[in-house]
Amino acid sequence: MARILGIGIATIDIINHVSHYPAEDEEMRALSQQQVRGGNATNTLVVLSQLQHDCHWCGVLINEADSAIVEQDLQRYHIKYQHCQRFNQGKMPTSYITLSEATGSRSIVHYRDCPELPFAHFSQLDLSGFDWLHFEGRNIDELSQMLQWVKLNYPALRCSLEVEKPREGIETLFDLADVLMFSRPYAESRGFQRADDFLHSLSYQALMTCTWGNHGAWLKQDGIVSHSPSFPPPRVVDTLGAGDTFNAGLISALVNGQPARAALEQACRLAGHKCGQAGFANLNELL
Ligand code: FRU
Repeated sequence: MARILGIGIATIDIINHVSHYPAEDEEMRALSQQQVRGGNATNTLVVLSQLQHDCHWCGVLINEADSAIVEQDLQRYHIKYQHCQRFNQGKMPTSYITLSEATGSRSIVHYRDCPELPFAHFSQLDLSGFDWLHFEGRNIDELSQMLQWVKLNYPALRCSLEVEKPREGIETLFDLADVLMFSRPYAESRGFQRADDFLHSLSYQALMTCTWGNHGAWLKQDGIVSHSPSFPPPRVVDTLGAGDTFNAGLISALVNGQPARAALEQACRLAGHKCGQAGFANLNELL
């Protein structure tokens, strides 16, 4: 069991389950609706916790009624959140999600009116008991200070960085992490149509992965690029958070000392398994 701190967001996800993705200007009824906690960093922690790690979250909680959804879910998965910063102003970030039963695709409209986590808060934390830090690639200026501060004060503490969306200046962080987890949309935003071409183009020291939906995921370690296929479930039910689940599978295997290629395969298996079910419950069954 490792002690892991995730730094990133928690959201309120309002999920409309629909039979098919609507056309523009279509009017349709949702089959059902759920309001649940979401957000990349906390999704990853919820999976890591089920893989038997001691998980902690550092992010922003707004003192408003919807925070209860987030707090109850974190408690359910034994994720400690005393390292969060609380604000009185704003709303918990909210995602309006259309989940298509026909394909399992999830289309997200995200709205936020809430401050990002400041470096000044992060720098007050005692990180000495942690084995691993996982950062969401957002809030670049503050995040850059956090990563540099960790390198200076806790040089042996391993850090992973999720690079899901292209954001201005995000590349300046790539030398500061031990593991870089790239997404297909990020690689495409850099002009690549293939994950292996994208990884070959990079020369950072970090271990790097790039996921590519049902084509699986690629890994670059010590200059060598390798591949794991995806492990699709019998029926794709819910792809919301599949990338976050992949990240959890990867971190768990690496922090447990598994070789990187085995970690890549474990991550793909776990993400595939997740796509066959709704939500994140019972993901420990596979392992
Ligand atoms: C899934 C997710 C959702 C959240 C959105 C934020 O990866 O974390 O839970 O609403 O992405 O971008």
